Amino acid sequence: MVEENGSIRTLSVDIGGSGVKAIVLDVTGTPLTERGRLDTPQPATPEMVINAIAVLAAAQGEFHRASVGFPGVVRSGVTETAANLHRDWIGFDLAAVLSRQLNKPVRVINDADMQGLGAIAGKGVELVITLGTGFGSALFVDGKLVPNMEMGHHQFRKGETYEQQLGRATLEKIGEKRWNKRLEKAIASLQHLFNYDCLYIGGGEAVRVNIHLPLNVKLIPNITGLLGGIALWRN
Ligand code: BGC
Repeated sequence: MVEENGSIRTLSVDIGGSGVKAIVLDVTGTPLTERGRLDTPQPATPEMVINAIAVLAAAQGEFHRASVGFPGVVRSGVTETAANLHRDWIGFDLAAVLSRQLNKPVRVINDADMQGLGAIAGKGVELVITLGTGFGSALFVDGKLVPNMEMGHHQFRKGETYEQQLGRATLEKIGEKRWNKRLEKAIASLQHLFNYDCLYIGGGEAVRVNIHLPLNVKLIPNITGLLGGIALWRN
């Protein structure tokens, strides 16, 4: 059976608000190719983004199946929200359409959930936040995912959400110093709420974190968003 074949290759795709990235992973989740990246097309409609994925896929060589991290709520392959992409994504069957386009089985999950799957140790309460165009979040208990936790759009402070206070647009507006101070407040607030064993901070802007982090908070590289793709095929 193909599933038992150690040479099975998984195309892992991360759809972001500013970039679409892709890489091929082996069965253990180790990258087999150089990561490809294209700017997220504007307008970021399903058709335009799927075209970008097809271009990236063609440059990645052979693969047998694909995993996609999408920046919104995803249920059974259908994208239900898309705060930073075109509204045509609402109610779009991404798994089915992309599967037809690539002629391969496709599984889709929230981008922060996928990033978390690539980062966690699988023990205790583990929280993941991603700092990029949007603010992503994922919660795991002993490795089990609580899917689609949309903390980004939840109230944080001063009548604003985590995403409004810490998203890329705000970072550009208020600068790194104030953004880092806010992040420090967010970490303290999340520790009180979740009492997590570990908090992972990923996403494209994690490189701009320069505060002193508590021992149970770890920065993770942005490639983790793609590495998590292999977990979608574990039962
Ligand atoms: C979306 C989340 C996503 C996050 C990071 C938010 O705007 O609602 O689903 O995980 O951005 O991309």
